[in-house]
Amino acid sequence: MLHILSVNDLTDDFLYSLWSDASSRKGKSNNSLKGKVLTNLFYEPSTRTSSSFYSAMSSCGGSVIPINNVQFSSVAKGESFEDTVKTMSEMSDAIVVRHSDNGAANIAAQVSSVPIINAGDGNSEHPTQTIIDGFTIYNFFNKKLSGLRVTLVGDLKNGRTVKSLVKLLNRFDDNHFNLVSPDNLKLSSDLPKKYYETSDINEVLKETDILYVTRVQKERGSVHSYSLTINQLMSLPKNSIVMHPFPRVNEIPVEFDKDVRAKYFDQIRYSVWCRQILLERVMK
Ligand code: CP
Repeated sequence: MLHILSVNDLTDDFLYSLWSDASSRKGKSNNSLKGKVLTNLFYEPSTRTSSSFYSAMSSCGGSVIPINNVQFSSVAKGESFEDTVKTMSEMSDAIVVRHSDNGAANIAAQVSSVPIINAGDGNSEHPTQTIIDGFTIYNFFNKKLSGLRVTLVGDLKNGRTVKSLVKLLNRFDDNHFNLVSPDNLKLSSDLPKKYYETSDINEVLKETDILYVTRVQKERGSVHSYSLTINQLMSLPKNSIVMHPFPRVNEIPVEFDKDVRAKYFDQIRYSVWCRQILLERVMK
């Protein structure tokens, strides 16, 4: 049984094969998951992750049990997380779990009789976002995930997409990370092999191939606010790309969206392409 709990569960071979298939198929519909059922079990809000799993499943002929707001489930009556997972594993072929507690997906995997996919646990990991982020880099850097200057900006302390992305890119040769955050939101664990830390984005904008922007995680107690200006974004190298897992709050001005370097809506399109293939691999 293949659980996807961490980026550590995704080998390079698995990822390259998934990206290659996603790249060929480009989100086209088929009936590969006809008769299969996915549960979306979300203890935290989501737009992209829950909807793209729904879209991926439907476009492969499968169906989804949407528990997108546990307040309207028996969780509100006091049902335990473990009993909820066990219950849904009796009527599904896989369960996508988002939870505010670190390690919740691992707990789910211990009690589930079907594969668990971690859709974000606390401030720990978001491995399927990293599949999409890795695919975006694969696509725009000619299948190369090495020798890149990656500038991560925002709430590096609590941003789970950042932590999963660092785990992935740290595996590849010669990636250099610029870690840009205020002192109270610094990345403190799983630091990359080569990095430079600063609180001033202007120091590193011109030394950037990938600018990965994240929002401040207010729901995890982070306090700060920042926004990049259009002038700062325009000063990025011509061949760089700008990514953001979204939702954005004020980090990137809307007027940058039309710039060829803005790839955050491509990331959203790729989420369905990649999750189709992922679900096929997990439910086969
Ligand atoms: N990127 C992401 O996880 O977005 P949602 O919170 O909307 O699912």
